[in-house]
Parts: sequence; C-alpha cells; structure tokens
Amino acid sequence: SELEPTIVTIFGGDGDLTWRKLMPALFNLHIDGFLPEKFKILSVDMKDIAQEEYNKRHLEGVNKFSRRGKATKKKWKEFEKCITYVQADITNDKSYNNLKNIFNETDKEWDVEASRIFYMAVSPYLIKEIAGHLDNTGIAENSQKHRIVVEKPFGHDLESARELNKVLQGIFSECQIYRIDHYLGKETVQNIMAFRFANALFEPLWNRNFIEQIQINVSEQVGVENRASYYEQAGAVRDMIQNHILQLICLVGMEPPVDLNANSVRDKKLEVLNAIRRFSENDVYVNAVRGQYDKGWIEGQEVKAYRDEDNVDNESLSETFAAVRFYIDNWRWQGVPIYVRTGKRLQEKTSYITIQFKEVPHKIFPSGVRELVDQNLMVISIQPQMGIRIHFEAKKTGLDMRLKPVDMIFNYSDSYKNDPPDAYETLLNDVILGEATLFMRSDQIEEAWSIIMPILDVWASNPPQKFPNYQSGSWGPPEAEALIAHDGFYWHTFTEPLDNSSR
Ligand code: BG6
Repeated sequence: SELEPTIVTIFGGDGDLTWRKLMPALFNLHIDGFLPEKFKILSVDMKDIAQEEYNKRHLEGVNKFSRRGKATKKKWKEFEKCITYVQADITNDKSYNNLKNIFNETDKEWDVEASRIFYMAVSPYLIKEIAGHLDNTGIAENSQKHRIVVEKPFGHDLESARELNKVLQGIFSECQIYRIDHYLGKETVQNIMAFRFANALFEPLWNRNFIEQIQINVSEQVGVENRASYYEQAGAVRDMIQNHILQLICLVGMEPPVDLNANSVRDKKLEVLNAIRRFSENDVYVNAVRGQYDKGWIEGQEVKAYRDEDNVDNESLSETFAAVRFYIDNWRWQGVPIYVRTGKRLQEKTSYITIQFKEVPHKIFPSGVRELVDQNLMVISIQPQMGIRIHFEAKKTGLDMRLKPVDMIFNYSDSYKNDPPDAYETLLNDVILGEATLFMRSDQIEEAWSIIMPILDVWASNPPQKFPNYQSGSWGPPEAEALIAHDGFYWHTFTEPLDNSSR
C-alpha cells in the first residue's frame, strides 16, 4: 500500500481506553485493509505482563467491544504480529531511550524513517510528564511526520488548557497535534456537514428567518460507572458540553467553508465559538441549570443515587446533569435559542438535534382541522438511532380537509448495507493519514473553555441548594423544564423508532 510506514506508540497501552476502543478500532482497520503495510503498535504500560498474556487480554477486548463481534483466528494472528508490549516507567527518561532504540531499529529494518504516532491514552495529569520526556530524549523531533494524539479532558479549565497547549506546542507544531473529540468521528455527526453543504434544499432555510429554536439532547442511562475519580472533578459541563456539545453547535451553526481542508473547516467552527454569547454571573442563573441524580429506576432495575456510588463523596456537589440555553450572536443566528440538555441516569440513551421551524406566516387552516398544532421539525438523530426525520403537516385522507403531522425519514440501516465504522476507527485512520479536520485546534479548545468558564465559576462559588434533585430514570430536574417553558417551548423527546412503518 502507499501508506507511510507507521509506528503507533500507545501510552496507557493496557488501560481501559486501549482495551475498549483503540485495539478494536485498530483491529477493524486491519481487517478493512486500512493499516500501512509497515505498521507497528508499541503498547507502553507499567504492568509486568508477558507479550502472550497481553495479546490474549486484548483479543478478549476485541471480541467484546468490536462492532464485528468475535475476531477470526486468522485475522487476529495477522494483527497480533504488529503488537509489541513495552513495560516501562513513563516517568523515567530511560524508558524513552529504550523506545528510541526500538524506533531506530525499526527504521533500519524498514529502511525508511517511519512516522511516529504518540497516543496519550493516559490520565490527563500524565500528558505533560510524557511530553517532557519526549522532548528531553528527542524522539519526537526532526520530522513533521511525527504526531501526538491527546484524549480528553484537555485541561480542567481555561488556564490549564492554555498551559497544556503551550507545553505541546513547545514540542510539536500545531499540525502535528491531534486533540480527540470522539463525537466528531461519529458517522451521524460527520453527516451534519454533508446534509447542510451537499444539498441545495436545506441551507436557504438554515437561519434566524426560518428557524425558531434548536435543541441538542445528549442523554445517557449509565451512571458514573467506575470513573468517579475523574467525574467527581469534572461534572457534566466539563465532561460533555465543553467538548462534544459545543462541537455539535459548531456543526449546526457554522458558515459553509470554502473546502474541506482542516483549517478551512476549523476556522468556520471557531467563528461560531467566538460568537457564542458569554454569560455574566446573572446570565448563568438565568440560562443554566444543574442536576445530580438520586436513586431511581432504569429499565426496570433499581439504581443508586450518585452520592452512594463507589468513590463518590457522600456530599458531592458535582453535577451529573446540565441544561443550558446558548445564543450565537451573529447575523445568521441572532435571537435563536439553542437549548442543550445532557445528563447521566436519564430515561433514555439518545442523542439528537432538533431544528424547530417558525410557524407559517398566515394560517388558512382553522385550528379545529389540525389534529395537533405542530410546527415543522427536523430531527438529526445521532445515536443509537441513526438518521434524519422531517416532520410536517399533510392532509389526512378523507372527504374533508383535515391535517395530520407526518414524517419523512432517512434511516441509515435502510439506506446503507455496511455497518458504520466506530468513531475511533475513523479518527485513528485520519491520524495515520495525517488528516486533521476532525480534530480540535488549540484555539477551538481555548474558546470552548472560555464559553463555559462563567458557568463553572458561578456554580463553584454558589453550591447547589438541593442535590440530588432528579430521580434516576427521569428527564432531569424540574428546573430544566422551567428553563425552556419560560420561552414557551418544551423539550422534544424522540425515542420512537426511525421507521415509517411503525407510525
Ligand atoms: C465521554 C464522556 O466523552 O463520552 C462520558 O466522558 C460519556 O461520560 C461518553 O459517557 C459518551 O459517549 P457516547 O459515544 O457513548 O455518546
């Protein structure tokens, strides 16, 4: 193949992310023939385990988490040849000199300078440490081919994000730094650009003249799982809004870029972030609601309150839910509210964006003939259902003129035979190709932090009055309903199947 010889070094090579996401993704890229012919994975971690045991453990991971299910013996055998487990103390320069030797030997063997990809699948506090050693030992130097991949959370606040950017930019140039936001790798999220900019039909309506309000719902049924040590420090705004949801707002709100180059696209997204209204202290009280889950029921199972979860402080003030009303102050979006809602232990796991259009300017159908007073809606369904629903009024069959809302549906499983790649497959493939469009640039990260800092600051200095304030299995605290009801709207919940036949 024409792909550049590549060595992917995974720091945190035996960690959870590698087990659940990275190995299954790399394995699927292998199956699909997207890995370079000359390719190596160096899995770096501190545990003392033999290569064989490491491979076995990660085969289990693949069998459990790959979208394709169980690996075939043949494919796994081919793939595991690429993997080298390297036991190392990542706080010691020696370990990096050892890696350097492996790189040099491999380059000799391949007779070419391979591109080195350093994947930080480690706790955020280790990133600076590792970067320092990469710098000291010079193993990332001398080539624009080398890349670093950084997972979220990227900093804990604006200041720490700036500092981390500085550290990384001291070693790599911006175009070598790949900051992951796995939402950008999702098929349905990438499709927002295709939908908007490859069709003549929708873009003319895509502005304040026709759109009344936008909603973004990213709800989960899971609780904190085994991530309390991270989540206690993060909370829903840092965990979901600073990154994934602001990126969704960018995709929905951006101006058309001139082309698909990384910087063309990222410039347009940055403009959206620049234009998002900054909250004063009072704005935070008016526009943002926080919640924390109490015990309750999810799919018939009784579940614990957040404060009773393992490793969570029993007086924890971390929010597991947030609802925010944002505004984009520019020509296209002035005055259009964007309601965002996200949380754990909510009724459904579902992510979707709804675009609600304005009422028709003049109503010739009296209200009695309209079965429901509906406005046109477009629902971009991200997961678990994948597709787009357009909701509009039509005449009901019959002798008289009666209206009924109906749907036009685009559903991935009806339209495409192949199952979609996992976000990590797309993103890892892009890193290997050196394609940065789906990754975050430093200025986007900092801008996103600057948008949410007022919320974090106001909340930190004003503890919530009543936590927990929503039951597991609900749609969040009543204040979130009040936030949107204040404007005369309600949260749309789209949980019925994306399927014409069921209606
Ligand atoms: C992660 C968050 O970034 O996204 C998790 O840290 C969250 O808390 C996850 O559960 C959701 O991802 P997905 O792909 O399941 O929507």
